[in-house]
Amino acid sequence: MQALVTGGAGFIGSNIVEALVADGHRVRVLDDLTTGYADNVHADAELVVGEVADEDAVAGAVEGAEVVFHLAAHRAVLRSVEQPLATDSANVHGTLTVLKAAADAGVGRVVYASSSSVYGGAAELPTPETAPTWPRSPYAVTKLTGEHYCRVFAELYGVETVALRYFNVYGPRQRPDSAYAAVIPLFIAALRQGTPAEVHGDGKQSRDFTYIDDVVAANLAAASAPAERCSGKAYNIAGGCAYSLLDLLDILGGILGVEWRADHGAPRPGDVRHTRADISAARNDLGHDPKVDFPEGLARTAAWFSNR
Ligand SMILES: NC(=O)c1ccc[n+]([C@@H]2O[C@H](COP(=O)([O-])OP(=O)(O)OC[C@H]3O[C@@H](n4cnc5c(N)ncnc54)[C@H](O)[C@@H]3O)[C@@H](O)[C@H]2O)c1
Repeated sequence: MQALVTGGAGFIGSNIVEALVADGHRVRVLDDLTTGYADNVHADAELVVGEVADEDAVAGAVEGAEVVFHLAAHRAVLRSVEQPLATDSANVHGTLTVLKAAADAGVGRVVYASSSSVYGGAAELPTPETAPTWPRSPYAVTKLTGEHYCRVFAELYGVETVALRYFNVYGPRQRPDSAYAAVIPLFIAALRQGTPAEVHGDGKQSRDFTYIDDVVAANLAAASAPAERCSGKAYNIAGGCAYSLLDLLDILGGILGVEWRADHGAPRPGDVRHTRADISAARNDLGHDPKVDFPEGLARTAAWFSNR
């Protein structure tokens, strides 16, 4: 199979590229390298540096692809609050550009990276896909808009599309050193350096953390599941269990063999209190079940940091 991975130089995309190459597929990456790194891209994949909102760049990159994994996006919620126009251009116009190019080129399927943020803190836990969506940031609006475009392209333009709502993904290649880094690499870095972990609020907020290998497996399943079951739909992709930030620090402290300390700051505006996904739809329609539990995923992630 020939695949295009947009955002394939980033954390999740580069792990998908690696799995595709390992399975013997031909892979092209389209990435503008804003938050991704060229050296994340597997040597056997072709890297095209360009933007997903650039029609010509996307038309060239999509040529010959049977499947597109569309991950390129401005990922950080805070950045979207500070730069809503840039986030909209990359995430909404970028997604529309990818879908249109895929339809024009006769691509069979587009697998789209959506986000649990579309729920905006659902009242129902575990949260099924039928729960109301209530985006609370420009980022979440763009991810939900992308889902609607995916559904409309499946209905009107004959491109099969599957949207995956990831819940807090973590694992190797997720970096602690960007202005908008995620909590797990930040906490691992703090504990390794012996500095206090910066916790927003009381640390009892909980998340359904999802190990990267399970996200990669979900993408591969979404690329091949029967269209009559999954095309035009959106699925929760999550570990299926919730852990608080204090639980996270306890487990990491045990893995790294250190006493942890935390600096508690003000809760972040817009942060939801708890997330936990109902993952039965992905199990039924995509045949996908997460395999890596949280302590095991954290141990693998900490080992990756130690070996870097
Ligand atoms: N990490 C998570 O927990 C999480 C959760 C939910 C959804 N997602 C989604 O998964 C996808 C990948 O996220 P990630 O964590 O790997 O982030 P990342 O920042 O590591 O990867 C995004 C990649 O897209 C590239 N990119 C950004 N804007 C682009 C543009 N306009 N044109 C071309 N390339 C561009 C970046 O250079 C980067 O390589 C994103 O769509 C994100 O919204 C991630």
